[in-house]
Amino acid sequence: MDKIEITKASRFSGEVVSPPDKSISHRAVMLSSIARGKGVVRNFLRAQDTETTMQAFRALGIEIEDSGDKLVIHGKGLHGLREASDVIDCGNSGTTMRLLAGVLSANPFFSVLTGDRSLRSRPMKRVIKPLSLMGAHISGRDGNRFAPLAISGGELTPISYTMPIASAQVKSSILLAGLYTEGITIVKEPAKSRDHTERMLPAFGAELTSDRLTVTVRGNRELSSQDITVPGDFSSAAFFMVAAIVIPGAEVLLKNVGINPTRTGLISVLQSMGADITVLNTRSVSGEPVADISCRGTTGLKAADVPRAIVPSLIDEFPILCVAAARAEGTTEIRGAEELRVKESDRITAMATELAKMGVVVEEYPDGLKIRGSDTLSGTEVHSHGDHRIAMSLAVAGLTASGVTTVHGARAVDISFPGFFSLIRGLTA
Ligand code: S3P
Repeated sequence: MDKIEITKASRFSGEVVSPPDKSISHRAVMLSSIARGKGVVRNFLRAQDTETTMQAFRALGIEIEDSGDKLVIHGKGLHGLREASDVIDCGNSGTTMRLLAGVLSANPFFSVLTGDRSLRSRPMKRVIKPLSLMGAHISGRDGNRFAPLAISGGELTPISYTMPIASAQVKSSILLAGLYTEGITIVKEPAKSRDHTERMLPAFGAELTSDRLTVTVRGNRELSSQDITVPGDFSSAAFFMVAAIVIPGAEVLLKNVGINPTRTGLISVLQSMGADITVLNTRSVSGEPVADISCRGTTGLKAADVPRAIVPSLIDEFPILCVAAARAEGTTEIRGAEELRVKESDRITAMATELAKMGVVVEEYPDGLKIRGSDTLSGTEVHSHGDHRIAMSLAVAGLTASGVTTVHGARAVDISFPGFFSLIRGLTA
């Protein structure tokens, strides 16, 4: 069934091991495929988005052995991919399409990238433009705005590019293309987006330096395969973090959560609302900081102050932050978040529409939302808009609402977090 019924939780306690990080899982498969030798990926995320990346590289001639607990990827070096015999379907995954566009632009064969209806409506000019400046032959539907993308790969030249928006996908696409050029590619961002590519590439032997908002990579150097253990996904843990703080008496320990500072803006915002969240046992896993996070039900949560500068570090947590704001005292304004309009759904409209159905007073801005916190949310019929993060956020809202909340389009959670609903059931039982 594509709908799930949620009722108010009187209990929400236990331990949750965060599912593996989606962004890092994509990158682990991509870099291992274009590196030389046998690479091992442990704790790879088993979800639709990351399976899509794995299938794409298989279609490009890479052997990937899957023994359940790990992937063994037989990397063929920078020039080892071969032309796929069919269109490559990137499903719902922007990361797959945009990063792959960078790699395939430099590979001397023809590729077509497509995706589901959501991905085919997301902006692609943001990668087509810089890749074209590097000399790529890449075009897309509707004047290069949208996928499908057609790529006739060939030799590229390095560029120095200043990105108009903070985007890890665009940054990574250019850096991956830069690996194939003779010379130095420089990417500058207006604000720091997630830096998993910059952390992983040097481990594979790439000559890459990163200085605040500027990343520099020297191309034409083979990568060598590595063993990678993927840390838990902060963005998946975030749903349990917010559920725990808004449910009275809740006590949840989130284990093995990636706390890369480019991802954890939500923790500081929730703490500034008064949430009882403690980061414990910080350690490092494959070059990424990881910790356990203890979260407790908090009474008297205050409205959030969300400075614009913090938005890139909580970009995927916007839907669940809206749920925390809906349960806080006072009014929360989130601005400077126009990128949310071009995610898997228009997340500003999606959250405004669905929270309003639950009785929340919400005002939409072109670049964000104003949410008036309330003691009572009303369970009703809500819709995921086909977006995994909206589905999970509405389910968490349902845990604090009166009556029954029916989340339609709940199957969308399989994009990033197939076990989500059974974990919720375990903590509420
Ligand atoms: C991602 C980057 C972000 C994020 C997405 C994953 C990545 O997108 O929203 O979920 O893995 O690089 P943008 O690069 O469009 O900001």
